[in-house]
Amino acid sequence: MEGEIEVKGSKNAALAALSASLLFKNPPKFLNLPEIEDIKRMRELIFSVSSGSEIDEEIAKRFRASILVVGPLLARFGEVRFPHPGGCVIGARPIDVFLEGWRRMGAEVEASGQTGGGNLIYKVTAKNGLRGCDYTFKTMSVTGTEGMMMTAVLAKGNTVLRNCALEPEIKYLADFLNKNGANISGAGASTINVEGKCGKLLEGAEFFVNPPDRIEAGTLAILGALAAKQLTIKNFPALELNAFIDILKEAGAMPAEIPSLRKSRDGISAFTFTQSKNLRAVSVKTAEYPGFATDLQAPFTVLATQANGESLINETIFEGRLAYVGDLNRMGAKITIMDKQRALVTGPTKLYGHALESPDLRAGLAFVIAALIADRESKIGNIYQIDRGYEKIDERLRAVGAQIQRV
Ligand code: EPZ
Repeated sequence: MEGEIEVKGSKNAALAALSASLLFKNPPKFLNLPEIEDIKRMRELIFSVSSGSEIDEEIAKRFRASILVVGPLLARFGEVRFPHPGGCVIGARPIDVFLEGWRRMGAEVEASGQTGGGNLIYKVTAKNGLRGCDYTFKTMSVTGTEGMMMTAVLAKGNTVLRNCALEPEIKYLADFLNKNGANISGAGASTINVEGKCGKLLEGAEFFVNPPDRIEAGTLAILGALAAKQLTIKNFPALELNAFIDILKEAGAMPAEIPSLRKSRDGISAFTFTQSKNLRAVSVKTAEYPGFATDLQAPFTVLATQANGESLINETIFEGRLAYVGDLNRMGAKITIMDKQRALVTGPTKLYGHALESPDLRAGLAFVIAALIADRESKIGNIYQIDRGYEKIDERLRAVGAQIQRV
């Protein structure tokens, strides 16, 4: 593969910012949104809101980030009914930290229907409005932090959120809200303070400028290290990928010293990746930001199949995120599942084309990479999953030399 490919706007930053539009008097404007299915679903969901107490259940069930609209709707209308959110099948994915947070702000939560049956419905009401609170997340949660932060913006009084997630998307969201009249401090650190506006909607006219998608960038870097003569990745947010870059260096997948990388003011620059012939096995343990992102775990496993030696992949965030391993083994990889969250990859192994089903969006793109480096043709099904998170990935990869067709 050879040429230039540009990293598109961040899926997860955009989903949070779009849901925040429900806190505004007039809809705010967004720049650099990726053209992907999850963004389309989020727009449909927001347009489906009429009275505020009902959101379109069928849309909400299709993606996890639908939970993000609940806090703003509750804060705005005092009542919201919503189904347990759907999304990637990568573990249990409860919403207890949201429910507990809203209770602490004075809301009542009722649940009806059955867990696991796909028809669990929640009704959250705050008849007398929401009041600020001091709330410590029992589990660090990215969307949990975003959801509570947005809810607190319209509450009465001050909210302190503790044990918050540190992912950069949280700071992007807080900056956007602050530019438009909110008063949030500490986002990006573990304690966040929000001065509530007591129901007064945001009125600013500042755009949300969506940053590049750090996960797409990391995944393309892996592709470059495995299969490129020279692949220049534009808009590469190096500063947000420190832990990942260190692992790639340890694996011999990129040079130890890169003068330009991490040097630009915002850490975003173009960077060229080339195929590395002598990859070394490296063990990785996923962690909350700024650790090695769980969303890069599946693509990294593909790289590990081409490295010399044994790499232990330890997924610590989600308990069901190694489901794709069986398919890589059917392609010729040698991966042993040690337990639900650890897999041992022995490499290098030659991979051969196979029929695959994309289990979730990140593993789906990992399959695309595996298929591109394999001998013979592969057919990947359930590509809605891939389209959820990556804009026109077939066209963009074809433009840099990949042999990939959408059938
Ligand atoms: C966000 O999911 C991302 N999604 C995920 O990206 C990402 O994998 C994840 O953060 C971790 O980085 C969006 O931003 C839309 P969490 P989120 O709540 O917020 C447990 C992708 O591929 N937990 O931080 O849903 C949970 O089970 C997606 O783009 C509870 O126990 O993840 C997990 O073990 C997939 N109770 C841990 O916390 C709760 O109420 C972290 O999950 C909520 C979460």
